[in-house]
Amino acid sequence: MDFKIVNSTIGKQRSACLIVGVHESGKLTAAAKHLDKSSQNYISKLLKKGDIKGKPDETLLLHAIPNSVADRILLVGCGKETELNDQQFRKIATTATNALDKIGIKECVNYLGELKVSGRDLPWKLRQMTEATCDALYRFEEMKSKKNQRPPSNLKTISFNIPGTANRTNCRDAVKIGQAIANGMTITKDLGNLPGNICTPTYLANKAKAIGKGNSKLKISVLDEKQMTALKMGSFLSVTRGSRQPAKLITLNYSGGKKNEKPVVLVGKGVTFDSGGISIKPSPTMDEMKYDMCGAASVLGVMATVSELNLPINVVGVVPACENMPDGDASKPGDIVTSMSGQTIEVLNTDAEGRLILCDALTYSERFKPAIVIDIATLTDACVMALGSHATGVLGNDDDLVDDLLSAGKTSNDRGWQLPLWEEYDAQLKSNFADMANIGGREGGTITAACFLARFTKDYTWAHLDIAGTAWHSGAKKGGTGRPVPLLTQYLLDRCKP
Ligand code: BES
Ligand code: MN
Ligand code: ZN
Repeated sequence: MDFKIVNSTIGKQRSACLIVGVHESGKLTAAAKHLDKSSQNYISKLLKKGDIKGKPDETLLLHAIPNSVADRILLVGCGKETELNDQQFRKIATTATNALDKIGIKECVNYLGELKVSGRDLPWKLRQMTEATCDALYRFEEMKSKKNQRPPSNLKTISFNIPGTANRTNCRDAVKIGQAIANGMTITKDLGNLPGNICTPTYLANKAKAIGKGNSKLKISVLDEKQMTALKMGSFLSVTRGSRQPAKLITLNYSGGKKNEKPVVLVGKGVTFDSGGISIKPSPTMDEMKYDMCGAASVLGVMATVSELNLPINVVGVVPACENMPDGDASKPGDIVTSMSGQTIEVLNTDAEGRLILCDALTYSERFKPAIVIDIATLTDACVMALGSHATGVLGNDDDLVDDLLSAGKTSNDRGWQLPLWEEYDAQLKSNFADMANIGGREGGTITAACFLARFTKDYTWAHLDIAGTAWHSGAKKGGTGRPVPLLTQYLLDRCKP
């Protein structure tokens, strides 16, 4: 997909299709108004007939426009002008892309940057449209024997029209960032969508190496179980006992910043299939537990985005990867394991495995002398109950960091919502036999899971993103979302600002 920035007079713009907007009030965007005038009210006549009402999910394709050098106009419903917010804008961009994709148009000129979104500038809108376009055109057909069941999109070039007064460089940069984020999201979605029998811990390790290939700033290393045993990662290793697939601890070290600058460490849960182990999950929707490595996949995606953008920052990705399977040798409820930190854990439920692999990865992260550590995990079903599939759960031991992440989520339209990490909740992790239990009861499950992790992150500034609800869609639209790559990338971009 090619994105261009152009600045042209609308009446003179040759193109297969011009994309313009109409609001529910019947109000046309500036470009649409211009086309209406030059075509002797061709558009307003259609509006009067009621062919399009301007609702946000509507489009109308116009042909044979009088006095127009463009072949077509795609009129896109933009809803109520006063209600046009970040989410609506994104939806409009998606609707427009889907319409273009369906018609099979190769190239278009997009004027929707004209829409007014409160508090958002033109570069923001261009970046959102770039991301929304790539997202709408995403296909996952790797596993189909007959490819192109949904043929690859014909759409090859989108030219965003900007006013002559706009800062071209800022607009170009925004589109570049949007493309890099979309590329990272594609990696994240692909890895999530791949089945557990293909996307194994070894597969993730190889993918990390492939992302590092040809980039001298990005170094990959992979530890095997023997090396993890030497590091005394008893908690992580207890989860992989029941699996025939060897566990891996993958590190991606990106050095774009100054040599002595402390890195941001991103730790991603990489359970390539979570059966629950001996505390086995019920069968319906268990297939979706192939997505239990989406935290890891988002770390790989972000590392690819950061490399593509050549950001002047140091970032380390740490991915503990394994399966959680039942077996004669698997961990049993009641087993007590010793984590790398030395703290002992009573495994009361083998399905609370994410925290068991993350705690050792978090202790391991200390060696990078991090400025900040953020872990990303499909950690609790409770998070899906609390926040649904729209917001990522955000918790942490530092309010400034949490605020920065929430703000990055708003800017990138990939939002999070904070949950409290109070000591009262931590008490629920009490064990009669070990330093702590790995579950804290039914109440506040997302918070007690974070409290568990917080016991391993006392020596640095840390936040936890629970992406159980946001990492993939269930049901008919089943598939990875690529979240929270936009949020994390935005956080890193914000850190690059002087
Ligand atoms: N991977 C799951 C969390 C999950 C479940 C994410 C469903 C999305 C949808 C995690 O390993 C898990 O099983 N968590 C348990 C914890 C419980 C045993 C305390 C859960 O949420 O049920
Ligand atoms: Mn589980
Ligand atoms: Zn899990």
